[in-house]
Amino acid sequence: MKKEMRVAKYDEFSGPKAVKVGKMEVPDLKEGEILVRIEAAGVNPVDAVITKGYYKDMMPHSFPIIPGWDFAGVIEDRGHAARRFEVGEEVFAYARRPEVKWGTFAEYIVIPESYVARRPENISMEAVSAIPLAGLTAYQSLYQYGNLSAGQKLLILGASGGVGSFGIQLAKAKGAEVIGVASKKNHDYMKSLGADHTVDYNGGDVGEAVKEIYPEGVDLIFDCTSGETLQQSLKCLKDSGKLVSILNQGNELDPKIDFQFVFVEPNALQLNHLRQLVEEGKVKVQVSKTYKLEEAVDALEQIASRHTTGKIVIKP
Ligand SMILES: NC(=O)c1ccc[n+]([C@@H]2O[C@H](COP(=O)([O-])OP(=O)(O)OC[C@H]3O[C@@H](n4cnc5c(N)ncnc54)[C@H](OP(=O)(O)O)[C@@H]3O)[C@@H](O)[C@H]2O)c1
Repeated sequence: MKKEMRVAKYDEFSGPKAVKVGKMEVPDLKEGEILVRIEAAGVNPVDAVITKGYYKDMMPHSFPIIPGWDFAGVIEDRGHAARRFEVGEEVFAYARRPEVKWGTFAEYIVIPESYVARRPENISMEAVSAIPLAGLTAYQSLYQYGNLSAGQKLLILGASGGVGSFGIQLAKAKGAEVIGVASKKNHDYMKSLGADHTVDYNGGDVGEAVKEIYPEGVDLIFDCTSGETLQQSLKCLKDSGKLVSILNQGNELDPKIDFQFVFVEPNALQLNHLRQLVEEGKVKVQVSKTYKLEEAVDALEQIASRHTTGKIVIKP
């Protein structure tokens, strides 16, 4: 008889409320894959977005869908050629695959071993599970595409959320100067992560506020919010500066702006670097709340609010 697992799953694109806890068979382990017992799963805004069907024409999918793309867990079995890790090793991964189907809000996942990295040793598995998607997004946006370097001035829009929290710390690890934008209640939090300055998007024009701090402007804007905040901030970007956005695809932007849209990709080598930074104490992981699998709807509704501080995770 096939092994069963408890999962959170849904059968229609009608939003987070369609997600129910139930059972599914654990998929067969194929060549190059590993079976992982999931200890914790990070929750990201995209998980809630997908339940609403926004990506249904762009991403192949089949119901029932298990939400979640982040996990930390323990390897329980390996396919024939999967030999990078031993059974019993603790790993983490960003598990987005070509078909939306087998997510991480579940007791088990079967995944190609090329996706996973050994987990940081110095933090809890809950905290580890909060790293992959948000950590890789900040990493790829700032290090890979933003080419951030020491001494540069960086403005992060939405700096107290999952991605922004990693963004502040990765920027400080590079020796950059950081202005974090979020509402007032998150300013002490952003400073605790290393932000040199903070700006409240409810307190007036964000671009003007930044120019009071750096009259010459900033070298890089990392946009995790878009909308009015982004429009206001463009006036403080240096002529030689760059804009990296994870939301805006650049359609209505001035074509003179050096612009890059980033959609985060799985990358185990970059996860290895993130692990090092966490183990060196340069990046801390802030989990503001842990939910049970039965509370997946609450977790998805919280992340859909766009006002989560740090990260939230689910423990199956
Ligand atoms: N393209 C990609 O690969 C990619 C990857 C990851 C995420 N994303 C997207 O990027 C966005 C951020 O992701 P996340 O995980 O960091 O989300 P999150 O954890 O929900 O954080 C959102 C943050 O934005 C702040 N915020 C809300 N409205 C704002 C405004 N008008 N101006 C400035 N800050 C504002 C919030 O702070 P307050 O509570 O203080 O308002 C909150 O800290 C989401 O829309 C997500 O879907 C895209």
